[in-house]
Amino acid sequence: MTSILEVKGLRKKFYQLEAVAGVDFEVREGEILGLIGPNGSGKTTLFDCVTGIQRPTAGDIYFMGKRITRLKPHAVYKLGVGRTFQLVQLFPGMTVLDNMIMAIQESEGTLLSRLFKLDESDDVKKAIELLEFLNIIHLKDEFAKNLSYGQQKLLDLGMVLMSDPKLIMLDEPMAGVNATLGKEIGERLIELNARGCSFLVIEHNMRVVMNLCHRIVVLDGGKKIAEGLPEEIQDNEQVLAAYFGG
Ligand SMILES: Nc1ncnc2c1ncn2[C@@H]1O[C@H](COP(=O)(O)OP(=O)(O)OP(=O)(O)O)[C@@H](O)[C@H]1O
Ligand SMILES: [Mg+2]
Repeated sequence: MTSILEVKGLRKKFYQLEAVAGVDFEVREGEILGLIGPNGSGKTTLFDCVTGIQRPTAGDIYFMGKRITRLKPHAVYKLGVGRTFQLVQLFPGMTVLDNMIMAIQESEGTLLSRLFKLDESDDVKKAIELLEFLNIIHLKDEFAKNLSYGQQKLLDLGMVLMSDPKLIMLDEPMAGVNATLGKEIGERLIELNARGCSFLVIEHNMRVVMNLCHRIVVLDGGKKIAEGLPEEIQDNEQVLAAYFGG
């Protein structure tokens, strides 16, 4: 199987602390790969390295066969890597629809001129289709700040989808979301996956991880301690020890 993302010997040091301490793994094309591990195990830092927000101390990252190590965030985004953050990043005082439009970092013209030309734009059509897909179309004229946290997470996902990413990296997509909306988000991810989107997902909720992910990589103290199918990870001694002490 072809890999869409390859991470080789990745390291990130913050002064004395090695947050990512030599990690190798791949996301295969068409797969949903889960990235799990206790708090502080280096998951978000690894995301930051892949998306160009942090410069790795060592190692290499390949996206669709192209070396992307140390590319700027914008360049990684343009290649087709979408990402959400652990805490949603929206424009709270703007409407849901305007948030979707703002998410396209690479359209013609300035942000303002894009907002003024809304009616003519294909971006609007796309935004509306995505809001329909995410079942939040009824909120399109609502200010983002008035949405529930779960609805904000859906909007956050919608904003990522505006760029048609080939790989979507989600940092805790269900955290703080009620069970109904969590299920909704999970279903949308599975549908996007069926349409050909690959995923790398950080998630603490084990039930979600086990149901959603095809394979799982486990980090502890910046190192990969296990990798395998959900059922293999579930009973892995080292993983249990990392989570529950031992
Ligand atoms: N910018 C930074 N400067 C210094 N240390 C950092 C920085 N970012 C993260 N760290 C440290 O690196 C380690 C890994 O943090 P990281 O946020 O990657 O963990 P995580 O696995 O995402 O944890 P969580 O599950 O709590 O989100 C932690 O010890 C953290 O304090
Ligand atoms: Mg994190």
